[in-house]
Amino acid sequence: MSLKNIFEFEVLDSTQDKAFELLKSNDEVIVIAHKMLKGRGRYGNKWISDVGGLYMSIGFRNRDIQFSKKLLIISSIAVLDTLESYYINAKIKIPNDIYFEDKKLCGILVEIKNEDVVLGIGLNVNQSFFPSDIKATSMFLIKNRTFSIREVAQKIYNNLKVLINSDFKLVLENYNNLVRGSFVEFKYNEKLIRGKVLKINENFEIVLDSGNFEMFYIREVRVIF
Ligand code: BTN
Repeated sequence: MSLKNIFEFEVLDSTQDKAFELLKSNDEVIVIAHKMLKGRGRYGNKWISDVGGLYMSIGFRNRDIQFSKKLLIISSIAVLDTLESYYINAKIKIPNDIYFEDKKLCGILVEIKNEDVVLGIGLNVNQSFFPSDIKATSMFLIKNRTFSIREVAQKIYNNLKVLINSDFKLVLENYNNLVRGSFVEFKYNEKLIRGKVLKINENFEIVLDSGNFEMFYIREVRVIF
């Protein structure tokens, strides 16, 4: 399967912005950059985007909030499945960070503007070091070899397409099997919440043994491994 409408750049400010721009004249786009100058993460954080990582945004025109919420779940599984194909056994930190042991391996951001949805995936592929204040790792550091960024991107995209066309109930069940039982702590409306994850329900609420919390509003999740 080949990537449709793929736009590849050496350097961009952010693949997210480029994807939104390209969606004005395309129904679906994939934007990859090898380096970003203004890479962004969730909650207005900066995403360090030096050469070696995969910086990919996948844009869909004319979708709704419901689709963007599904994408959050689907994309985590698509990345995990891709990593598994390289024998890397990573974990989901709810809602959709990917960790290897206690280090961040991949960050996912879903943005919606008018009716355009852009999924951004920042996966640490070939980086050999990170600033000391960042608890991150890369596929290179885990496996001691480099990977083809194109190949990794293609696998994620292929997995994503299969999952988008699958029954979402089954995808959610798969996701829940991976996150159930973890202990988490996060901020919600300025309050500190703690509890054991029971599941993410069909309304995209995180169901803890201490109550339900809308997935989009939770902040700064800490998993107590
Ligand atoms: C996070 O964990 O905070 C999410 C990080 C998302 C980073 C990706 S890299 C590709 C896309 N372009 C960006 O500017 N950000 C996302």
